[in-house]
Amino acid sequence: MGTSSSWSLFAALLCLLSLGVTVRCDCTRDGMEMEGGDYTLSRNLDSGSLMIYRCKDGYYPYPELTRVCQPNGVWKPLPKKFKPQKCKRVECPDPTVLENGNVFPYQYRYFVGNETSYECYSGYTLRGSSSRICLKNGKWNGSTPICSRDSGDVCPDPGVPPGAARTGNLFGIDDKVKYTCNNNLFLVGSSERVCQENGQWTGNEPACYYKHTYDTPKEVSEAFGSAIKETLTTTQSLNDIQGGRLIRISKNGTLNIYIAVDISESIKQEEFDQARNAVITLIKKIASFSVSPNYEILFFSSEIYEVVDILNFFDAKVELNAVVKDLEKFQIGDRNTGTNLNLVFTTFENKMAFIQRQVGDEAFKDHRHVLILFTDGAYNMGGSPLPTVARIKNRVYMNHTEDKQAESRDEYLDIYIFAIGADIFDEDLQPLTAGTGGNHYFRMSKIGELRETFDEIIDEREVVGLCGLHRDYETTYDKESKRKRYPWLAFVINKGAKTKTCIGSLVSPDFVLTAAHCFTFGDEPTDIKVEIEDGQGSREKKVKTFKLHPKYNVEGRRNVGVAEFYDYDVALIQLEEPVKISSAARPICIPCTQETSDALKLVGESTCKQQEQLLLKNQLERLSFLTRKDPLVAEKDVHAKLGENRPACIRKALLAPGITAANETIAVTDNFLCTGGRSPQRDHIACTGDSGGAVFKNYEQRTIQIGVVSWGTHQLCGSTDGLIESTDDSRDFHINLFKMVPFLSENLGDDNQDYTALKFLKN
Ligand SMILES: *[C@@H]1O[C@H](CO)[C@@H](O)[C@H](O)[C@H]1NC(C)=O
Ligand SMILES: *[C@@H]1O[C@H](CO)[C@@H](O)[C@H](O)[C@H]1NC(C)=O
Ligand SMILES: *[C@@H]1O[C@H](CO)[C@@H](O)[C@H](O)[C@H]1NC(C)=O
Ligand SMILES: *[C@@H]1O[C@H](CO)[C@@H](O)[C@H](O)[C@H]1NC(C)=O
Ligand SMILES: *[C@@H]1O[C@H](CO)[C@@H](O)[C@H](O)[C@H]1NC(C)=O
Repeated sequence: MGTSSSWSLFAALLCLLSLGVTVRCDCTRDGMEMEGGDYTLSRNLDSGSLMIYRCKDGYYPYPELTRVCQPNGVWKPLPKKFKPQKCKRVECPDPTVLENGNVFPYQYRYFVGNETSYECYSGYTLRGSSSRICLKNGKWNGSTPICSRDSGDVCPDPGVPPGAARTGNLFGIDDKVKYTCNNNLFLVGSSERVCQENGQWTGNEPACYYKHTYDTPKEVSEAFGSAIKETLTTTQSLNDIQGGRLIRISKNGTLNIYIAVDISESIKQEEFDQARNAVITLIKKIASFSVSPNYEILFFSSEIYEVVDILNFFDAKVELNAVVKDLEKFQIGDRNTGTNLNLVFTTFENKMAFIQRQVGDEAFKDHRHVLILFTDGAYNMGGSPLPTVARIKNRVYMNHTEDKQAESRDEYLDIYIFAIGADIFDEDLQPLTAGTGGNHYFRMSKIGELRETFDEIIDEREVVGLCGLHRDYETTYDKESKRKRYPWLAFVINKGAKTKTCIGSLVSPDFVLTAAHCFTFGDEPTDIKVEIEDGQGSREKKVKTFKLHPKYNVEGRRNVGVAEFYDYDVALIQLEEPVKISSAARPICIPCTQETSDALKLVGESTCKQQEQLLLKNQLERLSFLTRKDPLVAEKDVHAKLGENRPACIRKALLAPGITAANETIAVTDNFLCTGGRSPQRDHIACTGDSGGAVFKNYEQRTIQIGVVSWGTHQLCGSTDGLIESTDDSRDFHINLFKMVPFLSENLGDDNQDYTALKFLKN
């Protein structure tokens, strides 16, 4: 983030003379200390170094937030004797601008922690918050209180945000309101709004910010989250019982996402890593939705470092994993000094032009474009990006920029700016945003807050319909992050006739799937304990009932040389209470459901066969299952031997104790998947306690269960379970859920029961 520094030759000469021979001259720390706080320097006392003042929470540096060391060894702006640098208590913008109502208490100034309440004159009703508190970042919590009277206007009274003044008091079609901010505040959002026929104001609600006002990660995540979600999905409320929304239908047309991250010289390695991880988190979050956007991802200073080229997406399918890998590989080396923001927009514009030529004008109409920029806005090369942004709008709005039709194409272009830094060039950056449906301009002080912001974008509590959604990018490997990686994990403990411990998987809020052999004849629901740590009350869930597959019969082939026969080794446990969905507790996707088709991004009427072809398409399909291991669990890697590889794999079943049959297919029916062995890859092998666990596969950010761990030929684990490797001969057999669909749909898909039913595909 370059600092645009200009200095006079005269000053530089003075410096040169005073030092005799050396041309460079450093700034000094003399007299720069600040009462009540401290400062950091981006490049020591060298020319160009940025001095960033810091105060404790609830205070801000005054009169300056930053100073720059100029080549002549002088700080800019210069400290002034009569205005000593200090930490001042944060104030919130004036709330008494409220019209047609009273504010209590009435004060001249409002500081952090001050509470206010709002009351409307008689005849007026209050919308917005009736009480607000001044927060540490210089904002009021809640929303702007508005006292309005039902006067039959087309648009609702848009109110006056704290610290602002409004002109325009008519709210009919085409009426305009204009906002300005008082004193030393500046406006974020729309300074002008027009009442539209549909009863909505154009643009976004304005707010007045101080230079020291920053958005908290939570605020950004809520605002950006709701705006981007609008782009990524259309929502359909199918699941009112849960009070949640089921997001399942993507808007048609193509979505192109362009991301640019400012890495000009003052960015440190650590900040670069944080920015990159934030971008990875963001695209993984986006991958949870049922859209597959095309990505252009670049870093920039005075030049462009392109990491992901969007044009590749138009030549062939690009896997999300490849995008993430490219991002992880990218390193910052020596960068040129300077920042060229216009070059970023020109690059994006050129890409759009390419795309338009490639797909044709007609198809391009259905393309939506989302530009996301991370910068402090201090560009010092390439000139203002405004004309380029105007051309981009023109292209996407199909030349209708000036007339009203432009509004109908608003949703096809969003430009979000994440303004980050201690010294943000708001005046330059804000006009570059575009799009409706909420704030597109966010102010943050630290790059480090970005990942947290994106992490929270999808509130997992809110999206109950997304099976298999998980977080695999936690940087810690403790129990809690494991829970978020495997939120469907359940432990099943049977304290009946024989104590047995198994693993299970949450397949809907009410049901846990496990192996039938975890039960013995005569077990009661009260004998069974299910442990799911959802962070809500007791982790031990009470069992209402359980049901084994009706065709499961362990003795069924005893007389043909199979002492224990495990075909149909599946069981469903119904919990007394549904599990509360959160980032730590969420069902896994299971075959042949609509939920799984959505996770796999199969559009339109999809079939069970399509899912199977996607998930079990290779002769060796890499799958995983879990084993107990501190902390919580570890993941075992295995390869299902399919097609031509299957016969040799299942033949090893004949080595298992208790099998005397001559033909292995008597013990291993077509309902089993076979894993294990050491070639071509070394697989892990299952331990006794792994029984009933999900054999699963990840598809982008979603996990799909393919099988249930059932039995194996060799007992290699001994008393301690864990990550045990297979020998040449040992094999495991897992129930293939694609073969269990009638049982699953009968017990999980019945709309007329008292549980949340899954939607099974017709074909
Ligand atoms: C407002 O906050 C200031 C600073 O913390 C405090 O001195 C003052 O008493 C508060 N006023 C009210 C009414 O709480
Ligand atoms: C604002 O914060 C106060 C104190 O935390 C809380 O009582 C109040 O409900 C909040 N208001 C809104 C609208 O969130
Ligand atoms: C996109 O959706 C609209 C309305 O949902 C529909 O009328 C249109 O035919 C769709 N276009 C394509 C290309 O599927
Ligand atoms: C938009 O205007 C440009 C230049 O005037 C023209 O070349 C282009 O064909 C126009 N596009 C549409 C969709 O009308
Ligand atoms: C085992 O039985 C299957 C199915 O009946 C048959 O296709 C296969 O050839 C048999 N294998 C051997 C080794 O006899």
